[in-house]
Amino acid sequence: MSRMRVEKTKAFDVEIDTIASDKSISHRCAIFSLLSDKPSVIENYLQAEDTLNTLHIISLLGAEVEKEGERITITPPKAIKEPAQILDCGNSGTAMRLLMGFLSAKEGFFVLHGDRYLANRPMRRVADPLRKIGAKIDGRVKGNLSPIAIRGSKLEGFEYQSPIASAQVKSAMILAALHAKEMSHFSEPFLSRDHSERMLVGMGAEIISKEDAITIMPLLAPLQPLQIRVPCDPSSGFFFAVAAAIVPESRVVLQDVSLNPTRIEAYKVLQKMGAHIDFISKEEKYEPIGDIVVQYGSLKGIEVSENIAWLIDELPALSIAMAVAKGRSVVKNASELRVKESDRISSVVENLQKCGIEAVESEDGYEIVGGRLKEGVTVESFGDHRVAMSFAIAGLLSGIEIDDTACIDTSFPNFIELLSRMTKVEHGD
Ligand code: S3P
Repeated sequence: MSRMRVEKTKAFDVEIDTIASDKSISHRCAIFSLLSDKPSVIENYLQAEDTLNTLHIISLLGAEVEKEGERITITPPKAIKEPAQILDCGNSGTAMRLLMGFLSAKEGFFVLHGDRYLANRPMRRVADPLRKIGAKIDGRVKGNLSPIAIRGSKLEGFEYQSPIASAQVKSAMILAALHAKEMSHFSEPFLSRDHSERMLVGMGAEIISKEDAITIMPLLAPLQPLQIRVPCDPSSGFFFAVAAAIVPESRVVLQDVSLNPTRIEAYKVLQKMGAHIDFISKEEKYEPIGDIVVQYGSLKGIEVSENIAWLIDELPALSIAMAVAKGRSVVKNASELRVKESDRISSVVENLQKCGIEAVESEDGYEIVGGRLKEGVTVESFGDHRVAMSFAIAGLLSGIEIDDTACIDTSFPNFIELLSRMTKVEHGD
C-alpha cells in the first residue's frame, strides 16, 4: 500500500521524450511475435508490470525472449508449449482477452489468471463468441470470470457482429480467425483502436478492413516477424497534456507519440475545451508517429458522447480538465468505464466530490460542474493506475494525497519521475 503526495505548482515548460511506450502495441508485439517462425525485434517495449507479465507468459509458451538494452528479440517456439504453470496476466484485460483468442486454437491446456481487479472483469464478451466457433473455454461464474481454463481446439470461420466497440474483443476474434478453418467476418458498432489490424497486415496477414467491418483470411503460413519501435503511449502522455492545459502559462511537448486517429480523440476534446494543441507528424511505421504540443488555455465545459471508444482510457484524466473548466461537462455513452481496472464512473465521481467538485454519476457517464479544487484532500486510487495518475495531476493545482499508488507501475513506472519535473512529489509506504 503505497501513497503519494503532490504539491501545488507554478507554470512549467517541459519537453518529455520518455513517456511510457504504448501499452496496447507492446502487448500485441509480444503475442503477435508467436505468429511468425522468425525472431521479431522490438525496440522501446513497455517495461511496466502489465507488459512484462505478457513477456513472461510468452516465454512460458516456449518463446525465447532476449533483452539487450532497450531492444528485445523474441524467438518464437516451433509449436506452442503447454505450460505447467498458470499464466498470470496481472492487471491486464488486454493480455487476458487477446490470449484467450490466441490460445483457443492452440493444442494444449492453458489457465489464465490475474490480480483481484482483473479477476472481477467480464471475460464472456470474448469467451461467448469464441465458444460459438468451437473454443473450449470455462471459468468462474458461468465462464465469465478468471481463472479462465482453455483446452485448445479446431475453430470454425465466423461472421460475428460485436455488440460493443472493443479492440480487445476484436483482437481476440482476429487471433482466433487467423487459426480458423474458413474465412471470417467481424464487425463492431464503431471502429475501435486498430493496432491489431495495422500490425498484422504489416506482418503479411490477409485482413481487409472497411471502417467498422473486417474480413480475416486464415493463415496459410507463418507471418513475417515484427521489426518495430514502439511509439510512446498517447493515453500516458495525456496526463501531462491535462497538466499543461490546467496550470496557467504552462506548456508540454510530448515526443514520439502514436498519432493513430483511434487514439488521440481526447486531445481533440481538450482542444475544443480551449487548450492550445498542435500535432506534429514525424513518421509512419505501422502507425503514424509524432509530437504533441499542449499549452494552457482557459477551459470551458463540454459534452462528450461520441467516439467514446477512441478516448475511453483518457476519460479519467479528462475529468480533471472538466473539474476546473468553466461550466458544465457531460460524459455519456461510456458505460464501458464501469468494467475497466476499477468502475471508473464511481471512482472518478467519488474522488471529484472529495475534491469539492459537483459531480454526479449516471448509468453511462457523469456530469461535472467546473469549480475550484479543494486544497490538501486525500483520495483513493481504487487500485486503478489511471485514477491514481489523473488525481496526481489535479494535485498540481490544489496539492493532493493519493492512497494505494503502486498500481501506477502497471503502465507508467516513470510517471512520478516525470511529474517531479513539474512539482515536488513525495511517495512511499
Ligand atoms: C485496449 C482496448 C481498450 C482499452 C484498453 C486497451 C487494447 O479496451 O480501454 O486499455 O489494447 O486493445 P476495450 O477493448 O475493452 O475497449
